[in-house]
Amino acid sequence: MEKNRIATLTMDDGRSVELPIMSGTLGPDVIDIHNLGKLGIFTYDPAFFSTASCTSEITFIDGDAGLLYYRGYPIEQLAEQSDFLEVCYLLLNGELPDAGQKAEFNRKVTSHTMVHDQITRFFSGFRRDAHPMAVMVGVVGALSAFYHDSLDINNPEHRDISALRMLAKVPTIAAMAHKYYTGAPFMFPKNKFGYAENLMYMMFATPAEEYIPNPVLVRALDRILILHADHEQNASTSTVRLAGSSGANPFACISSGIAALWGPAHGGANEAALNMLMEIGDVSRVKEYVQGVKDKKYRLMGFGHRVYKNMDPRASVMRQTCHEVLKELKLENNKLFELAMELERTALSDPYFIDHKLYPNVDFYSGIVLSALGIPTNMFTVIFAVARTIGWISQWNEMIASGDHKIGRPRQLYRGAVKRDYVPEKKR
Ligand code: ACO
Repeated sequence: MEKNRIATLTMDDGRSVELPIMSGTLGPDVIDIHNLGKLGIFTYDPAFFSTASCTSEITFIDGDAGLLYYRGYPIEQLAEQSDFLEVCYLLLNGELPDAGQKAEFNRKVTSHTMVHDQITRFFSGFRRDAHPMAVMVGVVGALSAFYHDSLDINNPEHRDISALRMLAKVPTIAAMAHKYYTGAPFMFPKNKFGYAENLMYMMFATPAEEYIPNPVLVRALDRILILHADHEQNASTSTVRLAGSSGANPFACISSGIAALWGPAHGGANEAALNMLMEIGDVSRVKEYVQGVKDKKYRLMGFGHRVYKNMDPRASVMRQTCHEVLKELKLENNKLFELAMELERTALSDPYFIDHKLYPNVDFYSGIVLSALGIPTNMFTVIFAVARTIGWISQWNEMIASGDHKIGRPRQLYRGAVKRDYVPEKKR
């Protein structure tokens, strides 16, 4: 039997508290501080650098070693040998499906790909030039107004059906957001297509032309979806868990996750990385641009990660995918890609980046791949949201199914005014 291990916290006033030490199956031990508040002591950890907010069995990251596992399976193996819907099944259910389970899961997802017809009209309330992420936040949140029959979060069947609905409908909504922005007619999903194939079809097909998806490009998009499917307790996932901890319905929770993903420090990074490459414009300007980064005038977008202080394992897969896509499209001499490679070479050999442990992250390459696939930059974060939906649902479901979650409520270190008396307006 495992020995009870404790850490002792001694305050400068002589008080001392014993805190249990917990171990996971992988990763560092953690000190359980959750009872400290009862003693009137709080810890201070802004941005959660040192705080685990939950236990989870879904995803494991070792940022120093550059490892990412979904349910124990290394991301490289999944990206190479699996497909996105199989990964969805794995994240949701904990195990890889057998052939029958896989076929049944795919059938269920496929049978939910259409959205309620009223949602089509919901779109016309948005300005044509609305950012597709703004549309995603609104329309995904609005799904809760359409599916009242599955909103009992304590009912596992309701949670299952909500998960399937979200997984199936988010690509349809994403493609509609793109079509609405460009002024083209919405394309209904075609269920003979696979998940990524269907997303490409709904984004790029028109009623006027036959659309034949290119399997190399479909595989690249499927890989992007796999690589972004989950990433343990990142900002958007923590947002989903926090929203869900109050008992909010899953559609509203996922909508809050989409909002959190939108920022350039998170999901918006690949858009920012591609914009940065376009701003640099030419290989000859790389040295000067890197100097500006070192002088802290701006950051090198697509570099660095809160957790990975080594090569992001997703970046290695995406780099390879990038080569495959550019070869298929005969874009190997693509100027942006050459620029990216030069930037990567320069940054990786520069002491500033080595000392700060700044490596290219997945977004550095995914922007180039998405752009080569013909996806406009304002849709990059939307594609990320489509991929991450399954991670958000799986994490939300894990929290609700555990049955012992409490509403999330961080504390604060108050540094405002001390008590003072109200001053009537005339005396101010
Ligand atoms: N370029 C230059 N310097 C950087 C970069 C960067 N991209 N990232 C971090 N640094 C430097 C900081 O200036 C700081 O330097 P200092 O210690 O000399 O002051 C040091 O590294 C630590 O920076 P923090 O911001 O404290 O590190 P944190 O772990 O909070 O940052 C983040 C992580 C936000 C991802 C950061 O690396 C960044 O802004 N990167 C660019 C945006 C990006 O690519 N985001 C994608 C994340 S991946 C994803 O969401 C899928």
